[in-house]
Amino acid sequence: MNAFYITTPIYYVNDKPHIGHAYTTIACDIISRYNKLLGNDVYFLTGTDEHGQKVEKAANAAALKPQEFVDKMSKNFQDLVSFLNCEISDFIRTTDDRHIKASQSLWKKLLDNNQIYLSNYEGWYSVRDEAFYAENELTKKNDKFIAPSGAEVEWIKEESYFFKLSEWRDKLIDFYEKNPNAIKPQSRFNEVLSFIKGDLKDLSISRTTFKWGVPVPNNDKHVMYVWIDALCNYITSIGYPDTNNENFKKYWPGLHVVGKDILRFHSVYWPAFLMAADLEPPTRVFAHGWWTNEGEKISKSLGNIIDPYEVVSNYGLDQIRFFLFREVPFGNDGDFSKGSIAQRINADLSNNFGNLVQRICSFINKNCNSTVSNIVNYNDEDNKLIAFSINKLDKYKQYMNEQSIDKSLKEVFELLTETNVYVDKQAPWILKKTSLERMNAVLFVSLEIIRRSSILLFPVMPGSCEKVFSILNVDKKDITLNNYQTTLSEPYRINESFPVFPRIDIDD
Ligand code: MSP
Repeated sequence: MNAFYITTPIYYVNDKPHIGHAYTTIACDIISRYNKLLGNDVYFLTGTDEHGQKVEKAANAAALKPQEFVDKMSKNFQDLVSFLNCEISDFIRTTDDRHIKASQSLWKKLLDNNQIYLSNYEGWYSVRDEAFYAENELTKKNDKFIAPSGAEVEWIKEESYFFKLSEWRDKLIDFYEKNPNAIKPQSRFNEVLSFIKGDLKDLSISRTTFKWGVPVPNNDKHVMYVWIDALCNYITSIGYPDTNNENFKKYWPGLHVVGKDILRFHSVYWPAFLMAADLEPPTRVFAHGWWTNEGEKISKSLGNIIDPYEVVSNYGLDQIRFFLFREVPFGNDGDFSKGSIAQRINADLSNNFGNLVQRICSFINKNCNSTVSNIVNYNDEDNKLIAFSINKLDKYKQYMNEQSIDKSLKEVFELLTETNVYVDKQAPWILKKTSLERMNAVLFVSLEIIRRSSILLFPVMPGSCEKVFSILNVDKKDITLNNYQTTLSEPYRINESFPVFPRIDIDD
């Protein structure tokens, strides 16, 4: 059994969860469930990022103590995980004792390895991004300097600890040249590599201007820069600082799925921290794109934040899970529009997948006493479709292994389209009068393809595929990729069918 470790970013608790958070968590759930289908031993981590000036300010604004505030806000993110039907292994909070201990241990390790020094910092800092910017990255607007993210920056001067990032330039270049798949998609790899090849400066990793953070060991005046504390969550959960711990040995290093906005932290700073602490860098960092709402950037000030609870109640959970990953290539930006959701659900789920399930299963219910039997021989058309389904499995896996979820889904839908064409052409309703033997063969092959496609779609739409499996009488333990090619036994009895994907009224 191969161990597989996957993480979402830990979410800032200064705000309510929105579709961007839901997107990253569902992506990881899909990749995690796919790995379970492969038979891998999966550890899936998510959680909340609870320190920093931004959270301190939000707590003040809510007239709560920071700890009370983060307890309340973190709960919203925990609830969202189960609401989205995501199966996690652990939910980490950066205010957990285990995490404070782990991040202080990481700090001490870096200090022991002579990777940290105390000096003074002066520079442009954005509270919103929790990041420093070089002057040439900024633009001027109404006498204010603005970071590339659109956030305002302020000039900061304070005593600070520094991490010797500049010393890691060559080692990072060397690591990425030897591991060209360690950042995906490819365009992001190139972007990161050219950033590293530029002028990599030492990184300020502590603050004295606020208190809400992990105290720096042996210097109470400083709290850790939120990113060193935050990134450390990925190793806290699997037992750091005890690197001989079962989980640590089994799961580290892993795959981090992040938004494109936080790629630099994960693919430059984090691997450098890890190598400097004698640990391995992540296996891969995958950067996904951002969603807009009906063409507009999503922002609080525009008041167009998409609430995951609302869209799920409008369209259904699996419908949204599917839309997010079928509509837009994973890695690209995408637009969340009502028209495209309805179209996507109707075309792919109602008319293609749902229709195939419904027409085949209700035909068997009505005409065959719910049982398919008497298969004598498959003809060329049957064999062609079965062979096509095997070819689709290979492609599906190839794409899933590189996190191209959209491409995997496209393969499954090509198989479903082909199967609907096959059913139309073979016309079991005519065969019923001309050849019961052929009718049974066609129904059996169609059921087989429904079963196979439902296994492939299971990671994306677990709830709906379970409904299909309940009609097909397939046991939960048989939902694995190992079982993909072991056909149903005959005679095969199914249960009463029901529509799994209702159509969306476009006018709604
Ligand atoms: N706390 C940091 C991450 C620390 S990880 C060690 C953080 N948190 S966040 O809550 O601001 O963002 C979390 C994730 O949500 C990021 O991956 C970000 O890209 C994603 N999204 C936020 N808005 C988004 C969209 N509009 N669309 C898609 N994803 C977006 O950053």
